[in-house]
Amino acid sequence: MLLLALLVRQLQAPPPKVPGTPGGPPVTSPRILLKDGRHLAYHESGVPKDQAKYKVIFVHGFDSCRYDVLRVSPELAQELGIYLLSFDRPGYGESDPHPGRTEDSIAFDIEQLADSLELGDKFYLTGFSMGGEIMWSCLKNIPHRLSGVAILGPVGNYWWSGFLANVSWAAWNVQIPQDQWAVRVAHHAPWLTYWWNSQKFFPASSVIAFNPAILSREDMAVIPKFAARPYAYQSRQQGEHESLHRDMIVGFGKWKWSPLEMENPFPAGEAKVHLWHGAEDLIVPVQLSRYIAEKLPWVRYHELPTAGHLFPVVDGMPDVILKSLLLGDE
Ligand SMILES: *[C@@H]1O[C@H](CO)[C@@H](O)[C@H](O)[C@H]1NC(C)=O
Repeated sequence: MLLLALLVRQLQAPPPKVPGTPGGPPVTSPRILLKDGRHLAYHESGVPKDQAKYKVIFVHGFDSCRYDVLRVSPELAQELGIYLLSFDRPGYGESDPHPGRTEDSIAFDIEQLADSLELGDKFYLTGFSMGGEIMWSCLKNIPHRLSGVAILGPVGNYWWSGFLANVSWAAWNVQIPQDQWAVRVAHHAPWLTYWWNSQKFFPASSVIAFNPAILSREDMAVIPKFAARPYAYQSRQQGEHESLHRDMIVGFGKWKWSPLEMENPFPAGEAKVHLWHGAEDLIVPVQLSRYIAEKLPWVRYHELPTAGHLFPVVDGMPDVILKSLLLGDE
């Protein structure tokens, strides 16, 4: 019994440190209250909302926070009138954890955020990496709220139906073995995810452990800038479980639907969907995005031949991405 109790304790994540509660991180940002009682912390950039022509919500990736917004140049923001809204995803930064989160729930969080801040009937949306994967959830659940979407280096789920076996296999094999294991555990044994990524016998996810083996040439060049973000500590400040591990459990989990089988959400061309991926991405294999773009004719695909995963951080790229999203099809 004692051994079993010890084992169970090893498998269980400690409770998250909820922002603004005793023992939890302080709340320094404005937050909105969601219908279910959770808070979402947000950050505004670009031009002031009431002067904006374009309102864009940005969704951050794995191990990131509201400050990891696409850094549009002040010149372009002024010229076009771009307001950017980013927020801490549940469990990250200063947003409350959401242990019940699913592949769909995040879309309704975003809709409530937009409504609380009175962005109007429609807004633009862009997301990077795991935040890119969330773009599919928004296209599925709230397409009537979207003016256009840019999906940047999105994480793909190997178990989405509609992939050809050889395609998902080729993508799977781009990952280094320790990441294959971390993803396998998140999918097949989510209850083991905390233990797997905290134990010391087997190497855990290399993305969590900052392993340089997953950096391409161009990623190597931008990683010093990325690693020097002064707010980086905020990503995991509630504990790794409700931020990082929950992200893996949902992102690589068993989805009730597949982006590959989605109908065109904009049959009358009301909005455009752009998908961007670096051909040398070693963190999120390009093969899945390439195949999705082939299957979904309503997606405009931009493959960047020399880019790795971190291209949205490269100088100049945020402007390129936003111009294509807001002005049309270059
Ligand atoms: C997968 O197989 C199909 C035919 O079944 C082929 O057309 C395609 O090129 C293959 N893709 C890859 C990435 O090997």
